[in-house]
Amino acid sequence: MNRTTVIIIAVVAIVAVAAIGVYALNSNNSGQGDDGDRTAIVYFSYTGNTDKVAKMISDITGGDLLRIEAAMPYTKEDTEYGKEDCRAMIEAKDPTARPGIAKDVDISGYSRIYLGYPIWHGDSPKIMWTFTEAHDFKGKTIVPFCTAADSAKNLDALTDDGKWLDGKRFFKDVIESELREWISGLKS
Ligand SMILES: Cc1cc2nc3c(=O)[nH]c(=O)nc-3n(C[C@H](O)[C@H](O)[C@H](O)COP(=O)(O)O)c2cc1C
Repeated sequence: MNRTTVIIIAVVAIVAVAAIGVYALNSNNSGQGDDGDRTAIVYFSYTGNTDKVAKMISDITGGDLLRIEAAMPYTKEDTEYGKEDCRAMIEAKDPTARPGIAKDVDISGYSRIYLGYPIWHGDSPKIMWTFTEAHDFKGKTIVPFCTAADSAKNLDALTDDGKWLDGKRFFKDVIESELREWISGLKS
């Protein structure tokens, strides 16, 4: 084998190894596993706080962002804090209220779901109850989180399926390192 042949073989080998590396990176560039072993951040957000935290969790975990949108979007009047007859308050007081979701959020391909929401009148907004009751969580781990000043209530009482971890509350100005610490400390 002369010198030129050796150089050509070496160049071809380097290009092949680089191509395989690029392919491997592209085929899994979100840090996601195969179908059925993926992470999603499913969330509802009205004023944007939960949206911000959900995006940070997505950046950290590589999970897909799936936003729950209300079929009838909430308005300022609907959510006026302290107004007894506003929509959010009426829904909060009504255990049977299940506000519609604009477009179904398909969680079938995900094994781990970070489930985020604000707290409305001491609990999760009823649209989260609609979502929870409408889905099958069998075989999934659900990690609830909320953005609010007080409680971090779970939705697990609404379903028999899934492994629900304890809910975690974050203030709206939570920083990424706090989220990283929480995520890396999750037991399962
Ligand atoms: C209708 C309504 C009711 C709320 N009730 C509570 C509450 O009971 N406790 C609390 O800590 N925060 C409450 N908040 C504040 C929100 O939970 C908080 O600002 C949250 O971060 C908003 O999330 P979002 O921006 O993703 O919608 C309420 C906000 C609204 C609009």
